[in-house]
Amino acid sequence: MTREKKIADLKNRVRVPVIAAPMFLISGVELVCAASRAGIVGCFPAANARTIEALDEWCTEIAERCDGGGPWSMNMITNSSYARFADELELVARHRPSLVITALGSPARVLETVHAYGGLVFADVTTPSLARKAIDAGADGLVLVCAGAGGHTGSYNPFAFIAAVREFWDGPVVLSGSIANGASVLAAEALGADFAYMGTRFIASRESLGDQARKGMTIAATMEDIVTSAAVTGVQANWMWPSLAAAGFKREDLKSERKMDFTTTESAKPWKNIWGAGQAVGAVRGSEPVSEIVDGLVGEYEALKAARRCA
Ligand SMILES: Cc1cc2nc3c(=O)[nH]c(=O)nc-3n(C[C@H](O)[C@H](O)[C@H](O)COP(=O)(O)O)c2cc1C
Repeated sequence: MTREKKIADLKNRVRVPVIAAPMFLISGVELVCAASRAGIVGCFPAANARTIEALDEWCTEIAERCDGGGPWSMNMITNSSYARFADELELVARHRPSLVITALGSPARVLETVHAYGGLVFADVTTPSLARKAIDAGADGLVLVCAGAGGHTGSYNPFAFIAAVREFWDGPVVLSGSIANGASVLAAEALGADFAYMGTRFIASRESLGDQARKGMTIAATMEDIVTSAAVTGVQANWMWPSLAAAGFKREDLKSERKMDFTTTESAKPWKNIWGAGQAVGAVRGSEPVSEIVDGLVGEYEALKAARRCA
């Protein structure tokens, strides 16, 4: 099957062109299956399964439960310092997710394995230069991580970023960063994206692995609570300020371009109790089941599409 056919197939299997973006310590079996059954692409970071044995079990369960639903996808770290890479790739070959999304490294290391069973490889990128590199490495598609995205973020505006990428790439593009409603999904398509990538909207969902405190903070937060800083992990990321304040951070610490030395205390662990979220956090108003979130997205998206046809 050609890449175009695979993308068309992926689109045919969803109700709305959305990928539930992979989130560390948030996306597990329940979220992926709920997303897939609700009619979007479910995705999780392989690192969320604590051991390779657990990852094998997760994949078995997801493949079984997603059967007949939307596609599912795995997010893999591909840099050479990631010790589990080879074992994870073996599981990918066995369980065959429709889509593998690579982060923190080149997509090249997974291409042969994923292409051998007919899957697609998309690479997560934050700049046009990284987008070019990923394409040169053979990626089938790009995830453009734009300003306002939860967790590790890009800093480019989505209008500018996708336009720059479309100058040299006419293949599949996924757009990310503060997309949380049907209008934004439609806007992403209008900009030339094939799918929208949505993380923050699912953090407080019923199927999320996050605990109640984290879900509560996500529900209460507004976009003004989101701060961008490299001080937590060494990479620019968007965090909920109240979680940073609780971990002892001061506003001036946010300016640090390097990871600060704070991880020795229990109360200050990135991702575990310093919580990432994007600027669309205000769209999260309760702990809903994923099926309701997706139904809402489909309703907004379809109504807007119909209104545009009538206009
Ligand atoms: C709490 C959290 C954890 C994340 N963990 C990962 C991860 O493990 N791997 C990854 O590629 N992206 C990760 N991301 C980024 C998302 O996949 C996605 O790019 C982002 O959520 C999109 O922006 P949005 O949150 O504004 O929708 C994470 C984001 C959040 C909010």
